[in-house]
Amino acid sequence: MIAAPSPLPVVILISGRGSNLQSIIDAVAQQRLAVDIRAVISNRPAAAGLQRAREAGLAVEVVDHTQFPDRQAFDQALLTCIERFQPALVVLAGFMRILTAGFVHHYQGRMLNIHPSLLPAFPGMNTHRRALQAGCSQHGASIHFVTEAVDGGPVVLQAQVPVQPDDTATTLAARVLEQEHRLYPLAISWFAEQRLQLDSSGQATLDGKVLTGPVIVSQESETPC
Ligand code: GRF
Repeated sequence: MIAAPSPLPVVILISGRGSNLQSIIDAVAQQRLAVDIRAVISNRPAAAGLQRAREAGLAVEVVDHTQFPDRQAFDQALLTCIERFQPALVVLAGFMRILTAGFVHHYQGRMLNIHPSLLPAFPGMNTHRRALQAGCSQHGASIHFVTEAVDGGPVVLQAQVPVQPDDTATTLAARVLEQEHRLYPLAISWFAEQRLQLDSSGQATLDGKVLTGPVIVSQESETPC
């Protein structure tokens, strides 16, 4: 008998609500995603997402950034905590800390982030309000490899969300979040199947071909495979 390949070990970092974490937990439970979530780590002890992780029976850790004198010391403690779980992929799911260069280099090609805008538009905070202020007709969410540039690494997957004339930042955020929950399990499954990689020149590849731009899913379309 041929043994089934063991699922990819991942560690998920969160800071808050954890709805993207939940979408990943659900995708694993529904066998849409074959990964082994080794641990969920939060920099905030009160993050609601920690409860979601506990309910799913996952290992939970807190590395509270307020307990460290500087970014370097926090990142070192975070890295030590992550390494105990030996992940092949680190998933940033609403992790609201800027990471130091050393930390990012350590996980080069093995760390993904989700961002609520169509990158390179609107890196940083308050993306929905900024998209409305700029009069964008399309907004959305992006999955990218993490590099030193904040929200600046190669984008691999995006979902577009049309902006409605009566949208507020809240209504727009809710529709973007729905798409985030589709995107992240899909991108992680590509990585787990070794279809998605970061090559030695820092370019993202899918199925061995350099991605010259992200794969784009529209709100209405079926999920591409
Ligand atoms: C999401 O909008 C994500 O794109 C951004 O932070 C938010 C986290 O939401 N990076 P949640 O904690 O996953 O619900």
